[in-house]
Amino acid sequence: MEHSSKGERKIDVTSLFKEADILTDHVDVVETKGMYPYKANIEENWVYYTAVAMKRLMVLLNRERRITKTIGIIGIGNGIEAIAMAKIFQGELKHIIMTDIDKDVLCGAVRNVSNSISDCTLKLTPLIGSLCKPIERTGCKVDFVYGNIPNLPTTGYDDISKGAERGTFISPSAYEASMPPEIFSRWALAAQFAYLQGAKRILALGGSVITELGGRLPISVIQELFKELGLGFQEIIVGFKVQTEAFIDFQGYQRFEKEYGTSFEFYLYKESKALLESKGISNPSSDVSGEEVKEWLKPFKVSAGEALNLYQKNIHVGHTVHVLRGNLK
Ligand SMILES: C[S@@+](CC[C@H](N)C(=O)[O-])C[C@H]1O[C@@H](n2cnc3c(N)ncnc32)[C@H](O)[C@@H]1O
Repeated sequence: MEHSSKGERKIDVTSLFKEADILTDHVDVVETKGMYPYKANIEENWVYYTAVAMKRLMVLLNRERRITKTIGIIGIGNGIEAIAMAKIFQGELKHIIMTDIDKDVLCGAVRNVSNSISDCTLKLTPLIGSLCKPIERTGCKVDFVYGNIPNLPTTGYDDISKGAERGTFISPSAYEASMPPEIFSRWALAAQFAYLQGAKRILALGGSVITELGGRLPISVIQELFKELGLGFQEIIVGFKVQTEAFIDFQGYQRFEKEYGTSFEFYLYKESKALLESKGISNPSSDVSGEEVKEWLKPFKVSAGEALNLYQKNIHVGHTVHVLRGNLK
């Protein structure tokens, strides 16, 4: 890994593609200061689960005889997911629209994607703005839109010039106008509500909205969210990862626990990992459901408040990872 004077670092991410079984030559990306940070351990990166999920999604779409020509990506970060999608959907994919709330992040992502894809006929459109709004403004329709968006509201004390914070917190102004019902706000799903609602306005006929979400809450609440928005609910993969940005996340979810009396669902990392390995489940997997995995992990469940205490004792806590597909009914 090479660091530059501007605080940028060049990272070799070839092994992530290999681990996700995506055929590729060498892939480097440059991470700028404000980008959501890449982690040395592959399974700690959301984008690893995204890459595996996209391969599974392609199988599902092929079965349904759907062609993917245009993809929208909300909150692109370093751009690795766009590189993965370009490789997976190569041949049919013509256009990727990438958005982020931050201009520098977006410019860096465009550089990374352009440097890593050989298909010069693939059009890349970068758009700055919140959630699906910038795509909606263009009038473009996408075959699917993908987002791994922050779920915790900014508190005013977090420094969102830093990548970890910018990847974790979202301004309430991004979702307030969508008026999420109280139940979803209580479970820190207000931004998800706004993302899924906005996505419906940019989907081509038969298109899908894909969301990647930490399973820190009951699956039934997520199903209710999709139902409320008139979206079919389909699981693409379920995985398990350690909570990254642990301190700010535990604190953020604990604030909700105190305010609304909810209890979020984290799991003791070592015990959960051992149990999933003993069951021979790959991480992530499309052979089991999120509900099944969460049921197995129930003996190791801890709240955000408990996770914060464990953090102070240096005991690691994780959460399930879900890549979900919503279809217009
Ligand atoms: C959790 S990071 C995910 C980055 C990358 N997609 C990944 O999975 O590794 C969230 C990204 O969303 C961006 N973001 C934050 N608020 C946003 C908003 N309101 N609209 C669009 N993007 C936003 C952040 O700058 C960050 O790049």
